[in-house]
Amino acid sequence: MSEQAQTDADETAATSEKLVELAKRRGYFFQSSGAYGGVGGFYTFGPQGASLKGNVEDAWRDRFAVAEGNMEIDAPTIMPEPVFEASGHLDGFDDMLIECPECGASSRADHLVEDNTEYEDAESLPIPEVEEVIAEYELVCPECGAGLADVAVEAFNLMFATNIGPGDSDPGYLRPETAQGIFVEFPRLKEYARNQLPFGVTQIGRAYRNEISPRRSIIRTREFTQAELEYFVDPEEDEPDLESVADVEVTLYPASEQNSEDGSEIETTIGDAVSEGIIGDEWVAYFLGVAKPWYDSVGVDMDRFRFRQHLSGERAHYAADCWDAESEIDGNWIEMAGFAYRGDYDLSKHEEYSDDRFTIFKQYDEPKTVERATVDPDMSYLGPEFGGDAQAVVSELETLAARDRAAFEGDTIEIGLEGESHEIPVAKTGFAVEEQTEAGEHITPHVVEPSFGVDRLVYTVLHHGYREDEVSGEERTYLELEPEVAPTFVGVFPLQSDDELVAYADEIVADLRDAGLSVTYDDSGNIGRRYRRQDEVGTPFCVTVDYETVEETETTVTVRERDTTDQKRLSVDDLAETLSAIRAGEMAFEEL
Ligand code: GAP
Repeated sequence: MSEQAQTDADETAATSEKLVELAKRRGYFFQSSGAYGGVGGFYTFGPQGASLKGNVEDAWRDRFAVAEGNMEIDAPTIMPEPVFEASGHLDGFDDMLIECPECGASSRADHLVEDNTEYEDAESLPIPEVEEVIAEYELVCPECGAGLADVAVEAFNLMFATNIGPGDSDPGYLRPETAQGIFVEFPRLKEYARNQLPFGVTQIGRAYRNEISPRRSIIRTREFTQAELEYFVDPEEDEPDLESVADVEVTLYPASEQNSEDGSEIETTIGDAVSEGIIGDEWVAYFLGVAKPWYDSVGVDMDRFRFRQHLSGERAHYAADCWDAESEIDGNWIEMAGFAYRGDYDLSKHEEYSDDRFTIFKQYDEPKTVERATVDPDMSYLGPEFGGDAQAVVSELETLAARDRAAFEGDTIEIGLEGESHEIPVAKTGFAVEEQTEAGEHITPHVVEPSFGVDRLVYTVLHHGYREDEVSGEERTYLELEPEVAPTFVGVFPLQSDDELVAYADEIVADLRDAGLSVTYDDSGNIGRRYRRQDEVGTPFCVTVDYETVEETETTVTVRERDTTDQKRLSVDDLAETLSAIRAGEMAFEEL
């Protein structure tokens, strides 16, 4: 790291420390169950935080559900074990665990390697290689300093297990991603979409992962909120409206650049990235193009934002390609969202493991006449010959006829049954090739998935918006939050606790709330202190009712803007309309 980069990282690390303190003091977020010592990886969003998070979720819903014409669902957070057998989470959703033999502290082995060696992506290494690196670098336990050189690294499944109902006969898991709640309902959701591809289903909700070492406040927790879109497409026919995002400028960090010694980020546009093959899938490119301006609109600093492609060893078990949206925090890049091409992985798995159909019927423009190979076995032969296995033999013959007609060309056909091979006379199989007219075919849609972490975005918005300056010789801290997501849009203060001023202020609060603005009323302490309080929680405007308001014939109030601290006098009659226009982005404060 260069000297300048190190200084920048130190400064933002200091910001993180101050931010976490401010978050607790002002009610953004704090560790849960503090009265009982707190639990690692669980956070409560206080009044300001819950409001900011809710506004971010609403903004996401507006862009990714409403504006894109997608559906939204709300599925349970506990799902039965077979769902996760099918999805692959039971077998493959693991992190690398290393336990200290001296003090018993658990650590993520890949993080230990990344934090203490030059390896940047240890997560993509196989376990034996991670064990070798730990031994080679003589890494030690971060808690007690004991050597970990010969300690085995284990695969630790991140799902929280539970039992559904009394007893343990019906195991279940807290969902590790909201996505499975959408996939398992595909047979019904496709009906709501009138069996027409493409269509998208969104869900905003909690996900749970029993992280080995939760860290950095709400960046890595054990319970967090995801906003996910599962977009179902016909891979042969559907194309995104790439034109609409072609000019969006992006900073990309493709896998090829990460693998190259002098590789670097690339400044380009979505259109060019697709035509030059940097982003391989057009649907992924489309959603990156939608996401970039949206992140900008909710307050992510675009100079501290990029899209990074996953390296091949880093991808989740279901993903064919994946790009992360990353934000810079404390000199590190953190993943805020993943944009994965999941192919037909999930729907095929649920079709295989469940009793339902996870395909969609695709109607041809014109009916097609096709040749189909069929069998109609002679059961009076198969029954005595195979007994209880006769039906399994029929299934084998059907599969073989569909797959390999040539196998039926001789006098006998060979099939495998429970590891044993059997010969059957072709004459007893009823094999025939028939012409059939078909109106369409059943296809398994492919899935493109933009998956956003809400908590990490909230943290980024606060971190990127954190400011310190000096006003009238006094140090001030303020949060430069976008009006669309700020917990409170306007604070209203009577200058003094004078009955007349208070009555005016109450009326203004009621008017502004009627106009749908979120308003806070504050009459405690001097006016400077009240401004500072609102600055610290990121309230974009404050309205002060003073003696001019009640004495002049035209009733006016002072409106103060948070970032510049500029003040203007506005007519009370126009106040709600003007502030609503500013909130909607139709007018700027400077123009008043
Ligand atoms: N359905 C795909 C999926 O879950 P992911 O990359 O594992 O993909 C998506 O998670 C997003 O969820 C991440 O980009 C991140 O923002 C958020 N996330 C994942 N694990 C998290 C954790 N332990 N704490 C907070 N946010 C987390």
